[in-house]
Amino acid sequence: MVIEHAPLEDELGDVLEKAMRCAGIGEDELAARVEVAADKIRDAFDYRYDFTAEEMSRLAEGLGLNEIGLNALASGRYPLPEIGGLPFCLYPLRTPHGIGVANAYVIAECGSQRGVLFDTGGDVEVLRRVWPTGIRRLDAVFITHPETEHLAGLADVQRRFGPVPVFGPAGAAIAGATSVQEGSRFEIGRFVVETLATPGHAEAHNCYVVRSSGAPTGRALLVSGDILFAGSIGGAYFCSERLKKHVTRLLALPEDTAVAPGHGPLTTIGNERRFNPFVL
Ligand SMILES: [Fe+2]
Repeated sequence: MVIEHAPLEDELGDVLEKAMRCAGIGEDELAARVEVAADKIRDAFDYRYDFTAEEMSRLAEGLGLNEIGLNALASGRYPLPEIGGLPFCLYPLRTPHGIGVANAYVIAECGSQRGVLFDTGGDVEVLRRVWPTGIRRLDAVFITHPETEHLAGLADVQRRFGPVPVFGPAGAAIAGATSVQEGSRFEIGRFVVETLATPGHAEAHNCYVVRSSGAPTGRALLVSGDILFAGSIGGAYFCSERLKKHVTRLLALPEDTAVAPGHGPLTTIGNERRFNPFVL
């Protein structure tokens, strides 16, 4: 299976569920608070939506969500920006995992055979199939967090490309990986990779900001793992306040920063500031 375009990671029902979890309330309490039938809220969890415009507005207000973004999700028209003008080539590698799709990314100077890999996907065979044909050498692998859907291809990548330095978040049990902390900075060829430690979805989680030393004021790329998605944020399994703090921090990056999330399509910081349901 080859996935050319990633669907959004979350639909309206997923966003409502995450927002309720963040707020620590169940559907009956939400229903009473926003005067929407609890059954309609439960239907939304099963991707059946029947909210009126007024109900959507009260849901957004009651859960502290961005109403414009929530309505865009509900109508299946969440806006996605054009991603152009990066000072290097970016190859999104979409791989299936369970019922979902996980993303890995190769960056390379355009025309070069050497690249840097971020995450390694959820399916070894598919990662091989979608691998950019021109990329024959890897200078480094960076892992956002040690969940199988982001890590499954690592051993195979190491077999194919030889001893490649692997970097991952502190506290992650990734064989052969070096832990990288908040603020760690790497210069790999013309790439400058900065580490942001972002626990909250997983206890061990990093995001990475990539710039080109050849274009230091040029557009940057944020590899956001499972913290920030187009139209949503990651599930907060450990601590939602911590995760939201990191989302706020990521959104303070320049608005033209391209965002390459662990699931779903590419977006930009500016787009998510305007439309992400979790951003007010
Ligand atoms: Fe994930």
